[in-house]
Amino acid sequence: MSDTVTILGLESSCDDTAAAIVRHRVGAAPEILSSVVAGQNELHAAFGGVVPEIAARAHTERLDICVEEALADAGLGLDALDAIAVTAGPGLIGGVLAGVMLAKGLAAATGLPLIGVNHLAGHALTPRLTDEAAFPYLMLLVSGGHCQFLVVSGPDAFTRLGGTIDDAPGEAFDKAARLLGLPQPGGPSVEAEAAKGDPARFHLPRPLLDRPGHDMSFSGLKTALLRARDRLIERDGGLHRQDRADLCASFQAAVTDVLAEKSRRALGAYLALSPERPTLAVAGGVSANRQIRAALEQVAAEAGAAFLAPPLDLCTDNAAMIAWAGIERFRAGHRDDMTLEARPRWPLDRRAPAMLGSGRKGAKA
Ligand code: KG4
Ligand code: ZN
Repeated sequence: MSDTVTILGLESSCDDTAAAIVRHRVGAAPEILSSVVAGQNELHAAFGGVVPEIAARAHTERLDICVEEALADAGLGLDALDAIAVTAGPGLIGGVLAGVMLAKGLAAATGLPLIGVNHLAGHALTPRLTDEAAFPYLMLLVSGGHCQFLVVSGPDAFTRLGGTIDDAPGEAFDKAARLLGLPQPGGPSVEAEAAKGDPARFHLPRPLLDRPGHDMSFSGLKTALLRARDRLIERDGGLHRQDRADLCASFQAAVTDVLAEKSRRALGAYLALSPERPTLAVAGGVSANRQIRAALEQVAAEAGAAFLAPPLDLCTDNAAMIAWAGIERFRAGHRDDMTLEARPRWPLDRRAPAMLGSGRKGAKA
């Protein structure tokens, strides 16, 4: 196998249509030659969440344009590639199908190998693309659709230590924003309000902290926020600006406490494996939250572990992470063929019990 591998990645499992080209030479840092992401926020805004049919149609219409743009940005033709990697799940099935069909078409037309990538593996392997993280590291995936702790021991070796049993934290931030009349996506708007508020004014629950293990729950928190809001409205006839800021600060403090304490426990379990370079890495949109990020950084420091948070555009959905996961799989000798299936569900850790339900943005695991 040649020293240098160049792979085109495609991503269409949720509401971002993306194509990217990543190159890796053995012994050198990986290079993102191009990364194109076409978001769909404006298409779904009126519906208060992602509409799967609208998402699928938009992916079908835009994916080939993104591929052309990614090739042009990198200054490469299809003949410069070694393989095509594509998200084959988990996610909204119409979108995943759009990506898999285009990848099969490209592979058939060029004769290039096809590599199916698990979207969650894309997120989980990102610290190796950005920071050349050494296996095994602990990953906390926190976004609008995902929330889980994974010990990442190889390109295809993931152990799930625990995850949310209901909502993902980003979903909880989005619902909190909706309850308080703040704009979507909820995370940034709740964070901005929280900066002006008192986190100690409302005592919101810290679900599952009283129970051992690494599972988390965020839906009760949203209900507690709703009750606190309604009590204020009943008492005062409406919400004052300071009430809203205090509610946001109290909500953010509760989410932060849960993520920090569960990360502390997950780090304990991970450190028992005696990793050579102990590392806690995060990915997903929620890791943009400054308070959460600072709390996790402190938890890692206390445990003697390095803390890695990839730049935000690589923490959220993108195709560079799919191209990179494709490179890792390609080097491990993995190839798919025309029988590659699009999968709505695809747990990374096949031994872990299945997670229940699916999120606003698709299946959680
Ligand atoms: O990873 P992502 O872009 O998409 C997926 O869910 O796959 O994450 C988006 C989620 C949204 O729910 C958004 O509200 C949340 O990440 N988010 C934040 C912040 N920025 C984005 N949550 C808390 N604080 C933030 N600053
Ligand atoms: Zn994602």
